[in-house]
Amino acid sequence: MDNHHILLVTFPGQGHINPSLNFVKRLVTRGVRVTFATSLSAIQRMNKTTPTPQGLTLSPISDGYDNGFKAEEIEEVMTSLQIKGSRAVASLIHASRDEGRPITRVLYTTLIPWVAEVAHDLHIPSTLLWIQPAAILDIYYYYFNGYADVITKNSCDPFCPIELPGLPLLTSRDIPSFLLPTDSFKYALPAFKKHIEILDAQTNPQVLVNTFDALEFDTLRAIKKLNMIPIGPLVPSAFLDGKDPSDTSNEGDMFQKSTEYVEWLNSKPQSSVVYLSFGSISVFSKKQREEMAYGLLESQRPFLWVVRKTDQYGEKVEHEVSCMEELEKQGMIVPWCSQVEVLSHPSLGCFVTHCGWNSTLESLVSGVPMVAFPQWTDQGTNAKLITDVWKTGVRVTINEEGIAEREEFKRCIDMAMGDEEKGKEMRGNAKKWKELAREAVKEGGSSDMNLKAFVSEIGN
Ligand code: UDX
Repeated sequence: MDNHHILLVTFPGQGHINPSLNFVKRLVTRGVRVTFATSLSAIQRMNKTTPTPQGLTLSPISDGYDNGFKAEEIEEVMTSLQIKGSRAVASLIHASRDEGRPITRVLYTTLIPWVAEVAHDLHIPSTLLWIQPAAILDIYYYYFNGYADVITKNSCDPFCPIELPGLPLLTSRDIPSFLLPTDSFKYALPAFKKHIEILDAQTNPQVLVNTFDALEFDTLRAIKKLNMIPIGPLVPSAFLDGKDPSDTSNEGDMFQKSTEYVEWLNSKPQSSVVYLSFGSISVFSKKQREEMAYGLLESQRPFLWVVRKTDQYGEKVEHEVSCMEELEKQGMIVPWCSQVEVLSHPSLGCFVTHCGWNSTLESLVSGVPMVAFPQWTDQGTNAKLITDVWKTGVRVTINEEGIAEREEFKRCIDMAMGDEEKGKEMRGNAKKWKELAREAVKEGGSSDMNLKAFVSEIGN
């Protein structure tokens, strides 16, 4: 093991850094040396609470936006990240050779396929670490392999059925938003296209996927050409296998946490609290915030609501609601929390989530039923899996203006937490997936074995 040296390059978003660092922790405990590279601005914002584990080196990449950037600059940032990042990755590979600890494998996450090209040019094998469900990789693969018309036909009708081999019957609202003609993030689709081209050019393309075998049995096997290897869920050990009880946080955290909510949660009855959080990127219109707030008031349940005051770039965002006084009597609003800790708290009743993949896995691992309120990218697909495949949640319906109304929030929260059959079924399934997630990562479990095989293979 001692001779392995992995370079893991991660897109500088919290949703990418968290699972990557959880993966790194597993590699270093198996004696693999890892250099972890992402942009300097992200590393500077990381809220690290524990010392860097032995065997891990953090390597910041200067992408030309070291002091952060504004949302509207994202296209320029992506170009600069590719140009400067390619040079930085090549230098890291050369330097590691010169120091006598050569990098033997490069890993890279989604949105930065150029890392594989740099590795290829320098004759180092590389592997994609896919930080979304296998189902999403299937959909992108199909899109770029003859199914684009099937996927996008009638995309203006959110309920238009879409049939893809090996996947559950989807509709347009379940498709990753980057594939829809209305999408405005121009950098995303070319990046996914490049990922698929790189995999297609290989004879036996392997992809490490942050999922587990039982969770995505069919979708992991839907594309015969791809060897998808589930190694997840990539969640801190203390909340999953308990192998490392000190591993209690997501190290990629980029926001300042408050802590006073723990005592507040301790004071609440078992399974009574509604937890609402929408990841590191999504922000809501005033109208939507108001509807959510009144929905909570009408539910009359205690709640913990994460309302960020800044966006992922550190810019202030609108966050006020008109009924603040009433809300504060009933629940608690915080700018950020340790979500893994909150989800595993016994007072938690349900999670109102945007269905980011990390939030989804963390909820499954904690056995908490979900109220799915997807916003963009993979979240519509994740919501479909949560509600119709794993059956651990209910999806909020939006009106013609794209707003989810207060009665709808109340209806879904009541369903997830109430005594009706549907709620009981969701909670029973949530418990089942919690157990299966633990099975996968325990000694001899499917993800554990896959990780062992990967680590022994990279030495050959
Ligand atoms: C992004 C995309 O939006 C998501 O769809 C994709 O699957 C991954 O990249 P993000 O929106 O940040 O991620 O959501 P998510 O994947 O859920 O990740 C958020 C992370 O922040 C989770 O690990 C969660 O535990 C953490 N978090 C969130 C906190 O620690 N505290 C909070 O208060 C909120």
